Parts: sequence; C-alpha cells; structure tokens
Amino acid sequence: MAELEQVKAKHCNKNIATYSQDANIFIPEFCRKLKHLDRAVVLLDPFSTQLEWNTLAPIARSEKIDLWLLFPISVILRMTPKHGAKIKPEWKETLGQMVGHQRLGKSTIQTCHPKDPDGPLFLFYFAVSSRSPKARGLASKVSKDILAKHNT
Ligand SMILES: C[S@@+](CC[C@H](N)C(=O)[O-])C[C@H]1O[C@@H](n2cnc3c(N)ncnc32)[C@H](O)[C@@H]1O
Repeated sequence: MAELEQVKAKHCNKNIATYSQDANIFIPEFCRKLKHLDRAVVLLDPFSTQLEWNTLAPIARSEKIDLWLLFPISVILRMTPKHGAKIKPEWKETLGQMVGHQRLGKSTIQTCHPKDPDGPLFLFYFAVSSRSPKARGLASKVSKDILAKHNT
C-alpha cells in the first residue's frame, strides 16, 4: 500500500485512487458502479483460498473488464479428492466459496486434477468479459503480445 501511495504522490496530476479493503467486498461494488462507457483491467493475485467465486462472477457479468488472475491451483488440488473419493466435509464450504457451490459436482473436480503430479502451483489466466468480437480480438492480441514479451 505504501508503494502505491508513492506512485500516486509521484503522479499527482493523474486521477489515482487507492483503497485498502477486502477484495471480495470491493470488487462486486466496483463492478456495480461502472458506468456505460467505463472499461477496466483488473489484476487479482489472491492468497490461498481468499478469492471467492462471488467476486469473479460480477467481473464476468460486467462485460467491461479484462481480468488477469494468478490463481493458486495447488490449493484446490490439495483439497479435492482423487480416484472418485468424496470431498472432505471440512473443505466443502471453502471449495464451494472458491469455485461456486453449484460446481462441486464430480466432473468439475476431476477436471481439476492434472495428470502430472509435479504440475503447476499457479495458473495465470487472462479473461475478457466483453461479448464484442472486436473487443475480444483486440484483448486477445494484447494479452498474447504481453505474454510473448515476458515468456523466456
Ligand atoms: C499473493 S499476495 C499478493 C502479493 C502482491 N501481488 C505483491 O506483488 O506484493 C496476496 C495478498 O492479498 C492480501 N489479501 C488476502 N486476503 C485478501 C482479501 N480478502 N482482500 C484483499 N487482499 C487480500 C494478502 O494480505 C496479501 O498481501
């Protein structure tokens, strides 16, 4: 937060606002307040199980936001059963909050398991909420350019 405040102070001619709030409360409100012509890029880098499905859904519904999400997939893999076993009751609530309670069906859980036991710990997603083919095409091009620049 201190670093963000420094950026803000350095660019005092720009309209920059900083907020220190629970993202699961802030993001749905932020989406709700977007006006017709507003557009936004959101970057989420959640810690462990902190990001809730109810925070992602309003981003998707906004049709105004491009999202970068660094998702700790290893957390879900640790909590989900292998070989047809049932989800442990103590993890059901947390998992449901993360992926949406209605998604706790078996097929979703199975697709969460990569074959490689040394699979990735994080997945870096780019998602476009706009339905406009033009906007989606442009966003796809920009995101690919960014990833190509940083893929070594
Ligand atoms: C993986 S770290 C992100 C690190 C950050 N991207 C950086 O480069 O410094 C996750 C951060 O989210 C914060 N956090 C945890 N739960 C949160 C929540 N519900 N809302 C907002 N931030 C949260 C944690 O305090 C932690 O600083």
